[in-house]
Amino acid sequence: MEWIKEERYRRLEETDPEEISGLAARVARCPWRQGYHIQPKTGLLNDPNGFAFFQGEYHLFYQWFPLGPVHGLKYWYHTSSPDLVHWTNRGVALRPDRNFDSHGVYSGSAIEHDGRLYLMYTGNTRDDNWERLPYQCMAQMEKDGSIHKFQSPVIGGPPSGYTDHYRDPKVWHQDGFFYAVIGAQRSNLTGCAVLYRSIDLHKWELLGELRTGLPDFGYMWECPDYFELAGQGILCFCPQGARLDEPGNIYPAGYLIGEPLDVETRDFRHGDFRLLDRGFDFYAPQTTLTPDGRRILVGWMGLPDVPYPTDDHGWAHCLTLPRELRVEGGRLYQLPARELQALRGKESFSIGKISDGTYSPPGFSGSRYELLIEFNNVDAFEFGVGLRTGEGERTVLVCDSRDSRLMLDRTLSGRPIAAEYGMVRSCAVNPSAVKLQLFVDTSSVEVFVDDGREVFTARIFPDADSMGLSIFAKGGEVSYRASKWDITSGA
Ligand code: FRU
Repeated sequence: MEWIKEERYRRLEETDPEEISGLAARVARCPWRQGYHIQPKTGLLNDPNGFAFFQGEYHLFYQWFPLGPVHGLKYWYHTSSPDLVHWTNRGVALRPDRNFDSHGVYSGSAIEHDGRLYLMYTGNTRDDNWERLPYQCMAQMEKDGSIHKFQSPVIGGPPSGYTDHYRDPKVWHQDGFFYAVIGAQRSNLTGCAVLYRSIDLHKWELLGELRTGLPDFGYMWECPDYFELAGQGILCFCPQGARLDEPGNIYPAGYLIGEPLDVETRDFRHGDFRLLDRGFDFYAPQTTLTPDGRRILVGWMGLPDVPYPTDDHGWAHCLTLPRELRVEGGRLYQLPARELQALRGKESFSIGKISDGTYSPPGFSGSRYELLIEFNNVDAFEFGVGLRTGEGERTVLVCDSRDSRLMLDRTLSGRPIAAEYGMVRSCAVNPSAVKLQLFVDTSSVEVFVDDGREVFTARIFPDADSMGLSIFAKGGEVSYRASKWDITSGA
């Protein structure tokens, strides 16, 4: 169904509550509702925003259009959790109700200061000719959870040299100052990140662009996030339109790693751009620190401008599970946050050898589980796992030991998604020993490869009764050791 502009910019506050409850009932009946991922009760979720630990809890907001599965008038929706596992819906946090954010409370971040949580976001506005003008805005959340916006934006429209694509501030504290990076498009239509500094979160000074080694890399950098980990500087961002050797990946989300950013010169020396996720549905990630100093990342499990099968049920997208980051060998590794072990229910264990065949150990089935499987003694030319298998359906993770690649194939996963961008994604692996940690939910799979060296994230839309889970080998033998835990509760 086509949504016209008037429908996409309809306000939640002016919508009949019966329409919302009718939509919520329709969404609740959808067979692809997730079991332990953050998902919207109605409408469309996109970027994670304002991820922070404050007052003994994690706060995680997200971009939300409540009225349907399209990108319309955006709100910030608020969720919170004591443990990164169990999340409580807290309702709308920020509404597009001021002249400086009238056409969408766009993405941003949060930082604690003076006993409050400050939310820095982009106020998207449009004039009568539908020309965009973005402002960078601030709100403060008190200890009691109440939220108040500042009277006026903290940063006006884009400075000269940039277009109206100027958004997604990520704020941090360093050496007595606050800094923020903002995603921007130069007037010559190339993307970059711009750095600001403040002493009090109210007055912001433009320092200038980050000087990276990528002066011409895509036409707009969305959702930048700068942080330091293990003495390295890391810049995550989504360079729209950047060319990668990965053909189907038209919405890259990745990072640069190098020496810490020099905030005086804005020099950032780094290596090659790397993808954060090798799968299909991952965008706009944001990180925060835990009280014990771990860096945690959450992403949007979806892509812009792509229709999904849940659209027909009145909702779209969810967030990824939180991932713990570490630096090893000059690159980022990502593992599921250790807190997620709390989700582990009934365990099934299997160890053995498969010789040219497929085996489904007892208890190996389901639609919500964690699977940890290690392969070794490989002489098969292909081996792997098939999940959510059923009548003509399967999602396959296959390691091809001849060309040392691991592939996630969703050709037969169920309802097709974005088929024009390819149904198979892959990464290089050492096939002599492969370790996979998978989280399967009703309509998604997240695969952590070799202790987090690579991650694949994918939405899948199988039939509810496609619950098979099997291990296979072709053209020889492979040994495996596998544990599977049912997951029954969560977000
Ligand atoms: C990324 C993005 C951001 C923007 C937000 C609007 O997905 O386009 O750049 O702030 O979504 O919802």
